[in-house]
Amino acid sequence: MSLFSRLVVSTLPLVPKGLVGRVARRYVAGETRDQALATVRALNEIGAMATLDVLGEEVRERGKALAAVEEYEALFDAIEASGVDANVSIKLTLLGLKIDEDFCRDNVERIARTARGHGNFVRLDMEDRTTTDTTLRIYHALQPRYGNLGVVLQSYMRRTLDDIAALPAEGANVRLCKGIYIEPRRDAWKGYETVRHNFVAALTKLMDRGVYVGVATHDELLVCAATAVVDRLGLSPESWEFQMLLGVDEPLRDILLARGHRLRVYVPYGPDWYAYSMRRLRENPEIAHHVIRATLGLS
Ligand code: FDA
Repeated sequence: MSLFSRLVVSTLPLVPKGLVGRVARRYVAGETRDQALATVRALNEIGAMATLDVLGEEVRERGKALAAVEEYEALFDAIEASGVDANVSIKLTLLGLKIDEDFCRDNVERIARTARGHGNFVRLDMEDRTTTDTTLRIYHALQPRYGNLGVVLQSYMRRTLDDIAALPAEGANVRLCKGIYIEPRRDAWKGYETVRHNFVAALTKLMDRGVYVGVATHDELLVCAATAVVDRLGLSPESWEFQMLLGVDEPLRDILLARGHRLRVYVPYGPDWYAYSMRRLRENPEIAHHVIRATLGLS
């Protein structure tokens, strides 16, 4: 990222919310369940699967967390009724993790139970380091009972190889990504190449152990490394998948689909789009260009 782009990124919090919304529209399916399902249908038509995420995080009121659980319950009905190919992703701080761990676990359990009733699957997104232990604890508590949960590990975290060693030998399903939150050096690898290196180490360890991996990246080097690991281990196409974010590098998505890879797109929706959109904009190498065009009313 150029110095100018980095400067724009650091001033992003000052950009009016309406403008952020316009620039970040590509990353979010819309505010409603129907808009999200329409996006999933379009993705299914080009051969991609989806994971649906109800936007929201850092919730401090029980009522808001319970409303999110109800939205997920309605979402499973809607997925089944519409026949789309989608599972769901959940953020535990939306479901009350910052209120009380037991309350959050009960909410995740309700979602897991409903998902199981619909033959569906639930991915626990991984948030910042203050949530890693509790997220993994809830995953380890519920997965043996429900069998339809997966978790996320981040290759920037120094602990990730140990977390892989602690996974159950059978039935684990892990999304591996680099990690997006800003963490101190004590906890996270900092070099761009170091994080890539640890991604390949973690991916190899997961696949060696027979874990189903969602390889969540748009980084060509890691896409290439993943296909090499799969080739070396002789894995079948059904035993892993690529994952990408809505609105990011669609040409790469189409290339991977054309080559016959399983690929799932993360489709977030809901009125609480701001925090998620800001994270996506911070990662966008062309952010300066987009913000300036939007400021001038050109996009
Ligand atoms: P990198 O950031 O190096 O990007 C590689 C290339 O992709 C860039 O050069 C650019 O071309 C393109 N690109 C990436 N982001 C872009 C953007 N926003 N706009 C435009 N172009 C962009 N993180 C986390 O901490 N917890 C989680 O639970 C998840 N979940 C998750 C699910 C899925 C399906 C994906 C793909 C990613 C996540 N992430 C995540 C985010 C992840 O940790 C990481 O921040 C982003 O995927 C970007 O990292 P890349 O591996 O793509 O590499």
